[in-house]
Order: sequence, then C-alpha cells, then structure tokens
Amino acid sequence: MEHRCAPGETLLDAARNCGIYIPTACQQGVCGTCRIAKLSGEVTMDDLGGLNAKEKSAGYVLACCSRPRGTVLLDA
Ligand code: FES
Repeated sequence: MEHRCAPGETLLDAARNCGIYIPTACQQGVCGTCRIAKLSGEVTMDDLGGLNAKEKSAGYVLACCSRPRGTVLLDA
C-alpha cells in the first residue's frame, strides 16, 4: 500500500489513515509498543528511549514518534 504523508504526519497517523493497525500504548516514544521494521528510507524519530541500540541498528523505528523524510518502506 502506498500513502503520501501530510507534513508532520507520523508513521502511526499514516498507518491509521490507511486502515493499518499498529498497537500503541504511550504514544510518546517511551514504551516501544509501536515498534515497526523500516526496510528503507529515512525518518526523524523523536523517541524517549523506547528502542535500544540493537533494535535501532536492526532498522526498527517507533511509529508514534517517527516522521518520514522522503520515501519510506515499512514492513507493517
Ligand atoms: S506507543 Fe509507546 S513508543 Fe510508541
């Protein structure tokens, strides 16, 4: 599925606008519940410690606090 994000739209917002369910809890980048795998592209992630370094290096991002910078491909 392809979606063009509005400025400032998070990956979570984008998923919801496409009818894709991503589980969430804090929605502030703390708990890690909304963790999803990013296959390509770049995001700006304003997290508060919800991912550890190993998860980040494996390509995971937090949907609730990540905004795409260009085209992003997710495994959702
Ligand atoms: S919902 Fe808690 S980090 Fe995204």
